[in-house]
Amino acid sequence: MKAALFDMDGVLCNTQEYHNACYAEIAKKNYNITLDSSIEDKLKGVLRNEGAKIFCKAVGIRPNKENIKYISTLKNNLYLKKIEENKDSLLSKGTIDLLQKLKNNNVKVALVSASANAKTIIKITNIEKYFDYVVDAKNIKKGKPNPAIFLEAAANLAIKPSDCVVYEDAINGIQAANDCDMYSIAVNVDFNKTTFTYSKKIADRYVKSLDDPLCYKGLYENLFEKADNCSLFIFDAGNVVIENIHCFNGIFDQYNFTTDQKSEFIKDFNFYTAPLMDGNISTEFFLNHVNKNLNLNISGDPFYNYFNPVFNVKIINLIKKLKENGKRVVLGSNTFAPHTKKMKEMGLFDLFDSVYVSNEIHHYKPNPSFFRYILEKENTEANKAYFIDDISENIASAASLNINTLHYVNDDKNTKLKKAFTKFI
Ligand code: BG6
Ligand code: MG
Repeated sequence: MKAALFDMDGVLCNTQEYHNACYAEIAKKNYNITLDSSIEDKLKGVLRNEGAKIFCKAVGIRPNKENIKYISTLKNNLYLKKIEENKDSLLSKGTIDLLQKLKNNNVKVALVSASANAKTIIKITNIEKYFDYVVDAKNIKKGKPNPAIFLEAAANLAIKPSDCVVYEDAINGIQAANDCDMYSIAVNVDFNKTTFTYSKKIADRYVKSLDDPLCYKGLYENLFEKADNCSLFIFDAGNVVIENIHCFNGIFDQYNFTTDQKSEFIKDFNFYTAPLMDGNISTEFFLNHVNKNLNLNISGDPFYNYFNPVFNVKIINLIKKLKENGKRVVLGSNTFAPHTKKMKEMGLFDLFDSVYVSNEIHHYKPNPSFFRYILEKENTEANKAYFIDDISENIASAASLNINTLHYVNDDKNTKLKKAFTKFI
């Protein structure tokens, strides 16, 4: 992940409670109505006029232009008064530390708020300097759950949506993040209380407040843990312990695949990846299917023949050092039978105290059950385990269980390795 997109009200600042308090106060004073607290969820993340409309309906007045304008103004004046009175205590627990950590590690940071007061609030709370970009009510026509607000931030930071993490306390906001393929972290949300029903997964992670390490663990490439206090080390195989792992091109060349056949083959492979990896279907089954589907005549075991990996010497040396230091080192790989066979033959398995390959243990990454299985077999607590992998989804999944992680990817991967393992290298 390369960018962090923060909601303000109820996430960076405790200001959502003042929005709620204003509506409750107006309802009581002007309409003698006690607002049901379930309305608070509906008011989160929506634009000011939209909030006023919801309020009008709740107190039984017509949500026409005049009433919306009247309520909006009344509420905002009251809100600004509360903000002024509480200006020294508007930041949530953990806000500064997290923003600073992200900045120190070159993560892009944006504020994505539906509030027209956002710029004022980040100024008076002194956090303005942390943001590379700010989207507030003035830039947008449609509030959350419309994803436009997040897409605009990503576009301006020049980061693709799937590399963005969204921090939100509103279901509206989480839904918007999910809908544009961003990683979502629900902050201080009690989903049991909510009146919303949302059929898909709600958020990727849940934290009580921004001082929870799950706000960053395993999510940003440059933010990794030191390996000092760990006792178990889990290494991914492909692109970590071994390199040159791609076997498709060999198969494509031998059977003279056309461009269409190549893309169809890859599509089929992706479709069958899960059952192939967890050992539920064999590569023979897959090749039979491909032969029929693409009118080909692939025979033998091409996944074995064209899989000719080489050892990554830097990692092999690290594994040796860890073992010299009395650490337990295991392999945790997503793979299938022909590759398992080749890896065994090349002596890769001999490097490890134990080997966990998905096609034999019937669990595969990024499913958390893969990591739970290994931790249980190794009788190790998650915070004593360290996992190294090149795929961000796998890292995020392990980290969400509190396993320490290093995302071994990009040109500086060996520099990161050195920093995390100084004690051993
Ligand atoms: C959102 C809040 O951030 O901003 C909403 O979650 C609020 O509850 C909205 O209505 C608009 O705020 P403002 O400050 O523009 O009235
Ligand atoms: Mg919010």
